[in-house]
Amino acid sequence: MPINTPARLIDGFDRRISYLRLSVTDRCDFRCQYCMAETMQFLPRKDVLTIEELVRIARLFTELGVRKIRVTGGEPLIRRGITDLFAGLGQLPKLETLALTTNASQLADMAPRLRDAGVNSVNISLDSLQAPRFKVITRTGDLNRVLEGIDAAIAQGIDRIRLNVVVLDGLNRDEVLPLTQFALAKNIHISFIEEMPLGQVNVGGKPLAYVSSDALHAELNEHFCLEPLSAEETAGPSRDYLISGSTTRVGFISPHSNNFCAQCNRLRISAEGRLLMCLGNEESIDLRGLLRSNCSDDEIKTAIIGSLSIKPERHVFDRPDEPQIVRFMNATGG
Ligand code: GTP
Ligand code: 5AD
Ligand code: SF4
Repeated sequence: MPINTPARLIDGFDRRISYLRLSVTDRCDFRCQYCMAETMQFLPRKDVLTIEELVRIARLFTELGVRKIRVTGGEPLIRRGITDLFAGLGQLPKLETLALTTNASQLADMAPRLRDAGVNSVNISLDSLQAPRFKVITRTGDLNRVLEGIDAAIAQGIDRIRLNVVVLDGLNRDEVLPLTQFALAKNIHISFIEEMPLGQVNVGGKPLAYVSSDALHAELNEHFCLEPLSAEETAGPSRDYLISGSTTRVGFISPHSNNFCAQCNRLRISAEGRLLMCLGNEESIDLRGLLRSNCSDDEIKTAIIGSLSIKPERHVFDRPDEPQIVRFMNATGG
């Protein structure tokens, strides 16, 4: 790397990148309605980054200032070699937070190995506590396995466990209170997410309708005293509140109603090795090509630093006159 190249990732809007989201597979054992179509074509295995490539790229990013890596999917825990990946990431000296987003279908078995590797933050998708409805939403998921997975993560004492709930009108809106009570009883956190129109997913020909965070906040405020937390305590797209008298945080992720892009500190790598500048835009560079063409570490770092000039200012999901991004969520990892 040239001597005057900054070892920091700062984009054209003066945002410092310290967080990498690493999608390790586009495959999943679930087919959540808002994430995937019922039948999907997945990437050929040779197109997906290998475990060695993932660890190398993670190391380079930590050398450039990344301090948090969240492993995403598809469903990361069904990826072959995933334990080796976590072991490799856990060895990176500069990494402070090793995080996972999962559907928890495999968590009951894997929680101890993840804890041993140093995973200290786990976000778990849970959209319903009603087994038949859970099956409708996920098309294939078994609620009991997921609940066992949540309990296993709690039993391992993982520092920060959060439920992710994508709230959809007519699908699970009536479970916002029971899900919050569930999180409270388990002493874990919960975030409610406004659905993002990625990948054109419909149910019965109708687009799914997100529910605004403001409406959910008002609803929960009638049952709990919600104490707002500062931006520093929150960090990331979730606007968090503490439920008074507990350690449970309730968060709202509002890509429609509260644009959080001005504080964006993240880049994401898709399963096939595209370094994506933004979840809601297509700007990217082909990291896999660089990894597989004998580039040196410094050459790859220089390409990463250069790519920041194309990071867009914000995502826009509500342009009725323009087509939305056609990229299913499972390819990007959210
Ligand atoms: P933290 O790492 O704790 O900040 O968690 P997170 O909320 O970023 O991660 P998670 O994988 O649990 O994702 C929860 C929701 O946030 C998903 O719907 C993601 O798609 C969404 N999300 C995460 N990062 C971004 C982002 O940069 N832009 C947008 N629009 N959505 C994001
Ligand atoms: N909009 C918002 N969030 C989504 N997720 C998956 N698809 C969507 C979508 N279309 C969430 C899942 C998971 C996280 C990675 O992304 O609930 O917890
Ligand atoms: Fe799988 Fe998560 Fe997508 Fe559901 S939202 S299909 S669990 S990747």
